[in-house]
Amino acid sequence: MTRLSAVKGDITKLEVDVIVNAAAPDLLGGGGVDGAIHRAAGPGLVAQCRTLGGCDTGDAKITGGYRLPAKAVIHTVGPIWHGGDHGEADLLASCYRKSLALAQQYDLKTIAFPAISCGVYGYPIGEAVDVAVTTIREHLEDSTLDEVILVAFNDEILSAYERGLAG
Ligand code: APR
Repeated sequence: MTRLSAVKGDITKLEVDVIVNAAAPDLLGGGGVDGAIHRAAGPGLVAQCRTLGGCDTGDAKITGGYRLPAKAVIHTVGPIWHGGDHGEADLLASCYRKSLALAQQYDLKTIAFPAISCGVYGYPIGEAVDVAVTTIREHLEDSTLDEVILVAFNDEILSAYERGLAG
């Protein structure tokens, strides 16, 4: 039985098998959680990312964790919010599905997600939480993962996750 929970904190500090990065399509780092992950992992991460040839929106690629406590990083590119009728929900769901599938493929048992697309990319947190929780729960019906953690960087996001998990 896989546990699904929400915590407040900095994803770069978590001792899980894999953390997910809300990356840019070039996979070469940026601000927000992407910048924090690259700073904490050190230069080996961007060096490996350079070999990956970028990543499409809704897709995911895996690297080592370098100096992070996590063994690996899954880099996924969320959709930019354009009002909600440009396929944003399908692309965001794809980020969660592809990331969970990669974790399983690499036999990683514990995974932590940030609120993909909810910073620079402008996705409204309540709507993003609905997509995240629904997609993760669908996946967990047939999963070998032990734990999925939704990481909130502030109280507003934590409340949204708690509402989503209760619903
Ligand atoms: N731990 C957990 N969550 C974090 C952290 C952290 N250390 N730092 C930021 N966050 C949260 C933000 O509060 C936000 O809720 O991550 C969420 C995602 O925000 P962004 O990092 O801005 O990601 P996103 O909206 O998907 O935009 C991606 O931003 O930094 C660039 O290179 C990145 O171009 C890409 C774009």
